[in-house]
Amino acid sequence: MTRTPFIAGNWKMNLDHLQAIALVQKLAWTLADARHDFAAVEVAVFPPFTDLRSVQTLVQADKLPIRYGAQDVSVHASGAYTGEVAGAFLARLDCAYVIVGHSERRQYHAETDEIVGAKARAAKENGIVPVICVGETLEQREAGEATAIPTAQLRTALASLAPGDDFVIAYEPVWAIGTGLAATADDAQAMSAALRATIADALGEETAENTRILYGGSVKTENAAGYLKMPDVDGALVGGASLDVDSFAGIVRFQKHVTF
Ligand code: 13P
Repeated sequence: MTRTPFIAGNWKMNLDHLQAIALVQKLAWTLADARHDFAAVEVAVFPPFTDLRSVQTLVQADKLPIRYGAQDVSVHASGAYTGEVAGAFLARLDCAYVIVGHSERRQYHAETDEIVGAKARAAKENGIVPVICVGETLEQREAGEATAIPTAQLRTALASLAPGDDFVIAYEPVWAIGTGLAATADDAQAMSAALRATIADALGEETAENTRILYGGSVKTENAAGYLKMPDVDGALVGGASLDVDSFAGIVRFQKHVTF
């Protein structure tokens, strides 16, 4: 297996640009002190838009091995779309990634699967790797749709992509986000396997094998290794715990916490 584990921190609407600089600096020092091998486990942060220029400047000036991305992107290239941010602008800030279709965007901003697909395409067209989020609500899970909903969400988004494209999937069950009610590692594995099968069906076996699938939802230092040891779980999309350097660094260093 050649998929590099990926630990991503989604800061959501937290930390201004000064706080962002402080966090990224401390994270870099902490991981350097721990002799973290960034080639073995990739690390990225997803700050608010207003922080990105500061993070870019810091990462470039200090040649930090930490990557970064935005939390959203417009489906449009440019024009009269007040408040929107174009993929080209993110590319100019050297964003490696952009999150699309987070459940909070789907819930509070009425993003449909089609919009999520269009955002994935906007990212791709600007050379940015989309991190496509899918996941079911508690009601959908209780209705027996725990697998059907995320795979259907993914299938629609994948219509915007082609075999060989570089993208990341994040399985984030809505009921596990910010609740402390993390999915079991077995659940995360089962869903990741179903999502990988969906990719294989849509874009072929090779693309499916090369695509990283992350689990997100109440990931902490204590439970991260349990997910990462699963064959189809290739990383974590971390919310709350990514705002604390020691917690996030602990998740990045999950290999030190593995107990088989
Ligand atoms: P928490 O880690 O706070 O549950 O958030 C998960 C998430 O939504 C990451 O995108």
